[in-house]
Amino acid sequence: MDRNLALEFVRVTEAAAIAAAKWIGRGDKHAADQAAVDEMRARFNQIDFSGTVVIGEGSKDEAPELYTGEQVGSGKEPMMDLAVDPLEATDSVAFGRSNALSVIVTGPPGSLLHAPDTYMEKIAVGKDAAKVIDLDAPVADNIKKVAAALGKDVSEIVVMVLDRPRHEQLINDIRKVGARVRLITDGDVAAAIATCRTESGIDLMLGTGGSTEAVLAAAPVKILGGQILCRFKPRSADDEQKIKAAGVSDVNETFTAEDLAKGNTLTFTATGVIDGPLLPGILFRQDRIITHSIVIRATSGTVRYITTHHNVN
Ligand code: FBP
Repeated sequence: MDRNLALEFVRVTEAAAIAAAKWIGRGDKHAADQAAVDEMRARFNQIDFSGTVVIGEGSKDEAPELYTGEQVGSGKEPMMDLAVDPLEATDSVAFGRSNALSVIVTGPPGSLLHAPDTYMEKIAVGKDAAKVIDLDAPVADNIKKVAAALGKDVSEIVVMVLDRPRHEQLINDIRKVGARVRLITDGDVAAAIATCRTESGIDLMLGTGGSTEAVLAAAPVKILGGQILCRFKPRSADDEQKIKAAGVSDVNETFTAEDLAKGNTLTFTATGVIDGPLLPGILFRQDRIITHSIVIRATSGTVRYITTHHNVN
């Protein structure tokens, strides 16, 4: 992708994140999401490119903006597919918790799995442990293998898990083998990517989360040399139909990061809304708004952390 375009997209996530941050702790997740969606869509349409939303706010009848299949941008070249989440972790913003982002993944047409909005089982790790994980292996085996690959004791391994009743057994299994658990209320995209950044202190992410979030995480995890393995966990027969309609013939297939986000020209752009394991959140100052973003380009492998001071008058 054009280098300048990568910087255009960071302006989009910055604007969406700022809009969402104005709703922190106000108890209204829909308003927070809507503010981010409106801003992201308006900003996209100011950029010279032709984007097709393959993962967005849902189907056209569910979402009037950034719906699956919507065309955004000025209509000029280049053409690209987009997986977006204007506000990843809406509840975190609504209730003033931690870990929310605004996210854009781009790739050439056909590069991103058109995952319907259901659940997936996931395991994610960084580069040094990328080859040792197995979605079918017992939790203890994965943890021991990751510990060996990272040159750590099992007791030093930190596993990030969404705090959900469905993860009770998983959390017990992690504790039983002697590893440490860090629970998050929301935001497994940041958690998966955090496993690829040694400074995050997160070695592994495990559990079931959103399937669209799996695609959003796959691109950066892959570019950073890590791995995310996933398998659909449909909630209903209707979900199964949607998965099949998306071209997945075997619902039990295990997807790698490459299966979810193909090729070597992907990009990932995110801006923190509230502090999390990947990025700090928005800071509102008297005359400035400060944003923290990350831009990762597969073509060069470059990872840019961008702190921007936005003049408010
Ligand atoms: P939203 O932004 O759609 O609220 O998603 C937040 C999130 O925590 C994701 O990070 C995660 O993949 C998913 O929800 C988990 O789903 P659920 O909240 O239904 O367990």
